Amino acid sequence: MKKIAILAGDGIGPEVIAEAVKALQAVDKKYGIGFVLEHELIGACAIDATGDPLPAATVERCQNSDAVLLGAVGHPRFDGDPAAKVRPEQGLLKIRKTLGLYANIRPIKSYKSLYKVSPLKESLIADVDFVVFRELTGGIYFGEKGRRNGGSEAFDICTYSVGEVERIARLAFAAAQNRRGHLTLVDKANVLETSRLWREIVSKTSNDFPNVKFDSMFVDNAAMKIVQQPAFFDVILTENMFGDILTDEASAITGSIGMLPSSSVGSKVALFEPIHGSFPEGAGKGIANPMATILSAAMMLEYLGYPEAAQEVRAAVELALEKGVTTGEINSNNAASTSEVGDFIANSISIKNNKKSF
Ligand code: IPM
Ligand code: MG
Repeated sequence: MKKIAILAGDGIGPEVIAEAVKALQAVDKKYGIGFVLEHELIGACAIDATGDPLPAATVERCQNSDAVLLGAVGHPRFDGDPAAKVRPEQGLLKIRKTLGLYANIRPIKSYKSLYKVSPLKESLIADVDFVVFRELTGGIYFGEKGRRNGGSEAFDICTYSVGEVERIARLAFAAAQNRRGHLTLVDKANVLETSRLWREIVSKTSNDFPNVKFDSMFVDNAAMKIVQQPAFFDVILTENMFGDILTDEASAITGSIGMLPSSSVGSKVALFEPIHGSFPEGAGKGIANPMATILSAAMMLEYLGYPEAAQEVRAAVELALEKGVTTGEINSNNAASTSEVGDFIANSISIKNNKKSF
């Protein structure tokens, strides 16, 4: 039995989660994992129901689960109100911090059947396969913030400790060792003291991984390189906010931010979520691409010790892409709905099941 806490969240969150659940159920039938899926609130929907973007019941459920699958968090009602004291995103940041999820792992991969929807030339994206290790529980996101001088000045402080840098550096180097053996630290060490600490610690850590080629790059230069020569990268290691920005940029290589999954790890329980937001304009219309969430579920299967099942889910997603069963941002002429994409993927997993058992 595997207990999964499902936090569908806001906007398109519940729709994309529903499709990932279909894929998990299809997999469960074959592998007899015995998933127990338990839904809890996070974000704007949690504020509406309880006044708190991360109710205690949600934290408790996550802590007592084998993994967490999350949809999306955020609502424009709060974005337009700078004075709002409670915000949906606080729930997301707090669950990351509370569960100790200091490493957010975001694979960036190009799919052959999507080359034509990428804004980049095919020759540039053909060999793109890199992974970003984004620090997730430190930096400017979590530093002291506030207003001073009667509110006429605002500040957000960026802080990192040696320990915070070292633990994610080790994970990223270990990953690079199992990939193409190349790690690029992205920072702004020509300006920021925190970045100079990152350089110092990461280059020290690199001595323990002699098989990994280590280099570093300023974030502005890396932003350019990601579109100029994305195949240069194997593992990118970076701090919280740079990782947030660069992964949205990198998603454009794939052709759609609706394709990119992520896992967040660190302590006992891991969390899996698409990198996209809650896309409130698209909510309830059946137009959201569920693939990033389904691929996040695949990462979760891998983490739970079912690599074959994970591979089956990925293959089903690739089949949907090949057959053109995709949502409108990829395929505007003949778009499938969110649930049609999810049904196709779940069915192709089930069909494979039958073939295997006969
Ligand atoms: C992400 C998102 C979040 C972040 C927001 C919703 C707080 O953009 O997961 O990338 O900035 O971490
Ligand atoms: Mg982001």
